Amino acid sequence: MKPTPSPLHPDFKLGVLGGGQLGKMLALAAGNWHLPLYVLDSSKDFPAGRVTPFFTEGNFKDYDDVYQFGRQLDVLTIEIEHVNTEALHQLEKEGLTIHPSPAKLDIIKDKGAQKLFYKEHNIPTAPFRLFDDEQAVREAVSKGEIKPPFVQKTRTAGYDGRGVSVISDMESLEGLLPGACLIEEQVEIEKELAVIVARNADGQTQTFPAVEMEFNPDANLVEFLFCPAAITPELEEKAEALATEVAVAFDICGLLAVELFLDKEGRLLVNEVAPRPHNSGHHTIDSCYTSQFEQHLRAVLNFPLGSTRMKAPSVMVNLLGADGHTGPAVYEGLEECLAIEGVHLHLYGKAITKPFRKMGHATIVDENLETAKKKARKVRETLKIVSR
Ligand SMILES: Nc1ncnc2c1ncn2[C@@H]1O[C@H](COP(=O)(O)OP(=O)(O)O)[C@@H](O)[C@H]1O
Ligand SMILES: [Mg+2]
Repeated sequence: MKPTPSPLHPDFKLGVLGGGQLGKMLALAAGNWHLPLYVLDSSKDFPAGRVTPFFTEGNFKDYDDVYQFGRQLDVLTIEIEHVNTEALHQLEKEGLTIHPSPAKLDIIKDKGAQKLFYKEHNIPTAPFRLFDDEQAVREAVSKGEIKPPFVQKTRTAGYDGRGVSVISDMESLEGLLPGACLIEEQVEIEKELAVIVARNADGQTQTFPAVEMEFNPDANLVEFLFCPAAITPELEEKAEALATEVAVAFDICGLLAVELFLDKEGRLLVNEVAPRPHNSGHHTIDSCYTSQFEQHLRAVLNFPLGSTRMKAPSVMVNLLGADGHTGPAVYEGLEECLAIEGVHLHLYGKAITKPFRKMGHATIVDENLETAKKKARKVRETLKIVSR
């Protein structure tokens, strides 16, 4: 086998499975080091296709596509969990460095296995039970073993709230999703927080400041994100320590985004994790000493991790496709938003807009978080992504 060149040698090949917005922003960060990022996804028209010429068209869920793509690389990472891990296991056997490891990906991409992992490692999480299908859930309800309110989550392939169903009473049992699932106690949530941890191969860890998420009630996905979170320094410390504990338990190399619930009694529970750059870290591009994307590169290439200190408070707004609009995307109100001090727009370049599709994000930085929030609401009202 040829010796692996140093990561910043011109021959070094770093690859990523997935060429969506996360792949694009990773490629932009790699560009600062003049590091080519090799991307596998189904179309060069996807967001990352615009910013890296090293784009292979293929399916990251297909064994052969992943295997052939991986064979040419020195290090391989991901921007989405739902990839073909069989091919990754084979590539790993053949000596390819893969972060996060395929074994950990297998656990994380199955929400049921993820929850069992927390239980085994004494990581606080909402109580749960696993079921083979929705019929088994109905039976457990009729036997009185479980009763609404509870939350159902499909074990695989859910994201942005699509695999989650809140069953608040007996009538809403109609809304049970098909397939293998977990049923979780409904948590009385005070705040939803996220902490991104980075860990390199030497085991150095670093956490970004906790962020607070505000959800769009219609779409069940994050609409606003505030950094810093409005929590006490003690809770901040606890949240960062818990997130680090989870990253160490998974033996992660790269980033691990840890979604947390703060319940009404002040307890922190781990909701779920993502072993990659995450929506809850987008603000770091504009508001922290090191962005989550550069940090992921540092971690997977085993460089010293960068400082995660905040340069200024910030609010991140997901720019979602307007309800009722599907088709070629048109951006309204861009100029008005760009004229506001501290507004940074990040557009992903997705050709087609759909209701609530993540089309971009805006980060608003301001010395004063309250001022940033006002500006963020202004951006949210002004910028419309429609189809004409
Ligand atoms: N046990 C729970 N109790 C209350 N709300 C929950 C619970 N689980 C999930 N939710 C709500 O649903 C959202 C999406 O659930 P999550 O498991 O994070 O799925 P996704 O993969 O779609 O992000 C959470 O951010 C939270 O608002
Ligand atoms: Mg989530």
